[in-house]
Amino acid sequence: MPIFIIEHLEPKVYQWCVLEYRHISQIVGKENLWFTNTNSSRLAKFGKAIPESVTTMNLKNACLLDLAAPVLLEPNEAKTFDYYIFGGILGDHPAAGRTKILANKINWAQSRNLGPDQFSTDTAVLVTKKITEGMPLEKIKFINQIEVETKFGESVILPYKYVVEDGKPVVAPGLIEMLAAQKEF
Ligand SMILES: C[S@@+](CC[C@H](N)C(=O)[O-])C[C@H]1O[C@@H](n2cnc3c(N)ncnc32)[C@H](O)[C@@H]1O
Repeated sequence: MPIFIIEHLEPKVYQWCVLEYRHISQIVGKENLWFTNTNSSRLAKFGKAIPESVTTMNLKNACLLDLAAPVLLEPNEAKTFDYYIFGGILGDHPAAGRTKILANKINWAQSRNLGPDQFSTDTAVLVTKKITEGMPLEKIKFINQIEVETKFGESVILPYKYVVEDGKPVVAPGLIEMLAAQKEF
């Protein structure tokens, strides 16, 4: 199993980060997960929390997942990487391209995309894990967006693609409930 690295790039470890990062830990296992650029004690139970940024690590055989990369991650090549690096970044619409800034700082890593649509970080990890296990992107089932009904009679759209398993979108546990209880977006 490769090591999955989340380079935390938000100013704080917000509650949605905690929910996504916990979900990533459930997907890949605590022993295969590093959070870099953070010393948050809240993350230690989900993986290794490392204050150093991944940009100074110069890892061998590493792959950065970047929406803007020109080459798609394919199963045959995916089996060969030892490290997968992701931006710990909130999705934005349209994508602001902060991962590209990270890519420019780690030219020792190969950059690959997971198709043209933006995923949340936990979905990007889930899709990458499936590809490393031999499933090509075109065989993975997705839903294009999710609508969350709030407790205040409104609804909010999450305009990202989510993996569908057993007929249901795979969303970080607790995220829908958190958004449903939120008054403002
Ligand atoms: C919510 S996305 C952040 C995208 C973002 N708005 C940006 O500024 O780059 C979080 C992370 O998931 C990964 N990711 C999401 N969609 C991807 C895709 N289609 N291909 C490759 N990586 C993706 C990237 O590692 C990215 O840094």
